[in-house]
Amino acid sequence: MAESTIESILEEKRLFNPSQEFAQQAHIKSKQEYQQLYEQAKTNPEQFWADLAEKELDWFQKWDQTLDWQPPFAKWFVGGKLNISYNCLDRHLQTWRKNKAALIWEGEPGDTRTYTYAQLHREVCLMANVLKQLGVQKGDRVAIYLPMIPEAAIAMLACARIGAPHSVVFGGFSAEALKTRLVDAEAKLVITADGGFRKDKVVSLKPEVDKALANNGAPSVENVLVVQRTEEKVQMEPGRDHWWHDLKAGVSAHCPPESMDSEDLLFILYTSGTTGKPKGVVHTTGGYNLYTHTTLKWAFDLKETDVYWCTADVGWITGHSYIVYGPLSNGATTVMYEGAPRPSNPGCLWDIVEKYGVTIFYTAPTAIRALIKMGEHHPNARDLSSLRILGTVGEPINPEAWMWYHRIIGQEKCPIVDTWWQTETGGFMITPLPGAIPTKPGSAALPFPGILADVVDLDGNPVKPNEGGYLVVKYPWPGMMRTVYGDPDRFRRTYWEHIAPKDGQYFYFAGDGARKDDDGYFWIMGRVDDVINVSGHRLGTMEVESALVSHPAVAEAAVVGRKDEMKGEEVFAFVTLEGDYQGSDDLKQELKQHVANEIGAIARPGDIRFTDALPKTRSGKIMRRLLRNLASGEEVAGDTSTLEDRSVLDKLRGG
Ligand code: WTA
Repeated sequence: MAESTIESILEEKRLFNPSQEFAQQAHIKSKQEYQQLYEQAKTNPEQFWADLAEKELDWFQKWDQTLDWQPPFAKWFVGGKLNISYNCLDRHLQTWRKNKAALIWEGEPGDTRTYTYAQLHREVCLMANVLKQLGVQKGDRVAIYLPMIPEAAIAMLACARIGAPHSVVFGGFSAEALKTRLVDAEAKLVITADGGFRKDKVVSLKPEVDKALANNGAPSVENVLVVQRTEEKVQMEPGRDHWWHDLKAGVSAHCPPESMDSEDLLFILYTSGTTGKPKGVVHTTGGYNLYTHTTLKWAFDLKETDVYWCTADVGWITGHSYIVYGPLSNGATTVMYEGAPRPSNPGCLWDIVEKYGVTIFYTAPTAIRALIKMGEHHPNARDLSSLRILGTVGEPINPEAWMWYHRIIGQEKCPIVDTWWQTETGGFMITPLPGAIPTKPGSAALPFPGILADVVDLDGNPVKPNEGGYLVVKYPWPGMMRTVYGDPDRFRRTYWEHIAPKDGQYFYFAGDGARKDDDGYFWIMGRVDDVINVSGHRLGTMEVESALVSHPAVAEAAVVGRKDEMKGEEVFAFVTLEGDYQGSDDLKQELKQHVANEIGAIARPGDIRFTDALPKTRSGKIMRRLLRNLASGEEVAGDTSTLEDRSVLDKLRGG
């Protein structure tokens, strides 16, 4: 992570206490109450989670064993039966919530739709029956490649209802990235749309699906279900492609939920790691349902009357856990927005807060920095008085952005909940509880009850307060990922072997650096592996490198992260060319576009530097540390004695 941010975070001493008024009405009302819960959960985690599972969820059949821990594989609520779509929908229909708004949606062009719980339930049942009609059975994987429209949530819930694990692929990913994911998950069906609207442009999706499936690219896919959104003309392949609105008209709205085992696969979500191939993170039903439900309820102090809005995309874990499953399981009203702030409408987020009376607003630091740049006159011109809690996620928030969020958006009265977590963790891990825990700008504060988080060295020994180390979790929790899809060995290697188990103690290695201060508050310092965090989105350096070398001009590529004021980090690529090619600005543009085509626009390098050779060790490892220094224009620091050829470095320095 950027040095300057670390430094400013290190100097941060401000402390913000929840107001008495807020604390009194909160689910968790004081630090003391938090500490009690934390101790209780630490002493007997199984009992702690079992009590909550009993109280918060509906089960078709109770479990026999709360936790089966065969490190690194955990099973929660073993033998229990439930369905997450039942917990998100059916159970609310038996109460007054039946006609409460479940989902309020606003499209970018200004069109809107609101679904009550009864209406959402009906749509989900219709889609579930359409999926069944297209031959999808319990256990079959379904890919979802949609814009931010209600059908994205409906599709996820419909899959969950019939026990077909979903794999949502972010709509900004290219055909190539989609294909890799379809093949890895062996998806049987793809749910997509003609396209969507984003920043005043039409983003086409169906043509990308066609490209991914061309030449038998993903042979497992039998059918494509297409939602009409933009009304652009798309090609429909007879027998394979079907319009959702056509099939919907011919099925029943009655679809009983499958009885799922607590450990049945709920979804796969691909995320970047340190190799070229994205990992399919596996989440299962019971533990994930409980964990997203409880973390949202306590960390955002969710109440019956809240209007809750998370601005993430459903293509990321934040959208899964905290637009769809967490809020709906709690019977809350969740807001979904298709668009983003753009020159033609920089105040659109605040319009939505004002229009619907949003009470809880959850976004990312990169968005906050973009909003700061657009100017505070936009939020100032709207009535934001409905807001009572603000949240942030995705990367460490710089204190300046935190203070702006606090002053301008929160009007100095809304607690800021800085939630540290990951695709792998399923839900919040380290976060303030807004009525109980004073906040410090830039710190994610304290672990959620039941989460034994710590900062340790490579031998697993806790480091001293204020010293940097590796962020780990020392005990399983219900929302944790269960494995890497199809590759349990990779799961073990990636997360459980960086720090070797000792005396029966296992360490979940998060891949983040962190420190704890004298009050035990966690300060996240960014990734310690080869993952770059661009606007809160994870990109593996290897993934971008593989994309670059797939271009005929490129011989070798090395990618590093470089600090960027708006995006946090951006991709910086060093490239050596094949014999006949000459480096030029045109080729730079072409390579940038090539990466965008291979992965998606978020991976487009901010800059590319051509070089004759890359600095390597004698054993042939690229010395990324040096490249990071070079990319950020810093002096090359540290030991360079392992370099195979010093002249490479001198040339790169321009010396
Ligand atoms: C980073 C997103 C600091 C971190 C939910 C983590 C954060 C990665 C925070 C996971 C935060 C997320 N403070 N860093 N509040 N939240 N991160 O899987 O590096 O897309 O490992 O999950 O984002 O990203 P992912």
